[in-house]
Amino acid sequence: MIGNRTLAVPGPTNMPPRIASAMAVPLEDHRAPDMADFILPLLADLKQIFRTQTGTVLVFPGSGTGGWEAALRNTLDAGDRVLGASFGQFSMLWMDMCRQLGLNATTIECNWGDAPTIDAYRRVLEADKSHSIKAVLVCQNETATGVTTDVAAIRRMMDDLGHPAMLFVDGVSSIAAIEFNMDAWGVDIAVAGSQKGFMMPTGLAIVGVSERVMQNVQERTGRIYGRSGGCGYWDFATMAEANSTGYFPYTPAMTLLHGLRESVDMLQEEGLDNVFARHNRLAEGVRRAVHGWGLRPCATDPATVSDTVTAIVVGDRHDANAVIRSAYRNYGVSFGGGLGAVTGKVFRIGHLGWLNETMVLQALGGAELAMRDVGIAFEPGSGVGAAVTYFTEQQATSLMAAE
Ligand SMILES: Cc1ncc(COP(=O)(O)O)c(C=O)c1O
Repeated sequence: MIGNRTLAVPGPTNMPPRIASAMAVPLEDHRAPDMADFILPLLADLKQIFRTQTGTVLVFPGSGTGGWEAALRNTLDAGDRVLGASFGQFSMLWMDMCRQLGLNATTIECNWGDAPTIDAYRRVLEADKSHSIKAVLVCQNETATGVTTDVAAIRRMMDDLGHPAMLFVDGVSSIAAIEFNMDAWGVDIAVAGSQKGFMMPTGLAIVGVSERVMQNVQERTGRIYGRSGGCGYWDFATMAEANSTGYFPYTPAMTLLHGLRESVDMLQEEGLDNVFARHNRLAEGVRRAVHGWGLRPCATDPATVSDTVTAIVVGDRHDANAVIRSAYRNYGVSFGGGLGAVTGKVFRIGHLGWLNETMVLQALGGAELAMRDVGIAFEPGSGVGAAVTYFTEQQATSLMAAE
């Protein structure tokens, strides 16, 4: 095709040339004597992105799904009780994984588009007088529906109840894009992936682990598996021990780590609060556009809408996949498809990572072209216009703000 393709899926996101250049390095010896000079500051700076001082951030070759597994395998034994919610494809899959690993999973089932309420979590925890539930799983940003859960409120509720369960957060499509405070929210394990807020290719599972979990896994490793063991590839204790010297227990994805260094630099230069504000501003532009088209987001409660992805309901008479096909084939624009229960009902605009107003408008323009092609009725320009109006009411553009 002539001209640029537009990547408007919620991961992988657009990769800044700075990150691409940082990865254009010759392959190197990951056990070189000076490698610790590169690794130790990177791991320390990642803690700032997770907003943890007392926790540890571990980086595994893998993806977000691997991070989910790492969280479960390091802390739980078959038969242990966990509590989570299913309100979209990803939260559902994490609960499925719990069952596959032999955990005793209680799932709060929600309509896709709704967020699990704090009360729904509370009811189960309150009834668990013997504290048999070992971990509470929260998907901070359900990428399939564009719905968020209030992690801080869940932590407050657990504290009010005095329930000692660990709090695990899927932050794959929120960390480095939407506010996340590991220490302040008492999060025990937080899972991120490289291909979303970190603006990188897929390939790294980035996992924040609290001090309390780190202590427990060390004891647990000894108890369950004996001296030779741990839980294999994902073992937190083995990884942390090697990391403490600036090295890895196995061959790290060095090329990606160079990209991650650049990514963390970029996030720090912009300032995390500015990153969150930019995502909020761009997301609000998309929401205004959806409203301008006379459509609605999949998220049913405005208080839970996501600042990284918007799932747009096209209405019963239309096939959202036809919008996606037309956008891709005719205009080179990639939107996210509806997954699982919302297949064909929604298309998703990803608005996270290395993104500014003009890039969002490009995606919105592509959506208008494709929606016209498939016969969805709306006033051409109504969405783009609403976003333009909103953006021009706002302060300096993303590009200027970052300079
Ligand atoms: C919220 C959420 N969790 C987990 C995953 C799974 O991550 P990955 O595809 O990197 O394995 C995704 C992927 O999009 C996601 O959006």
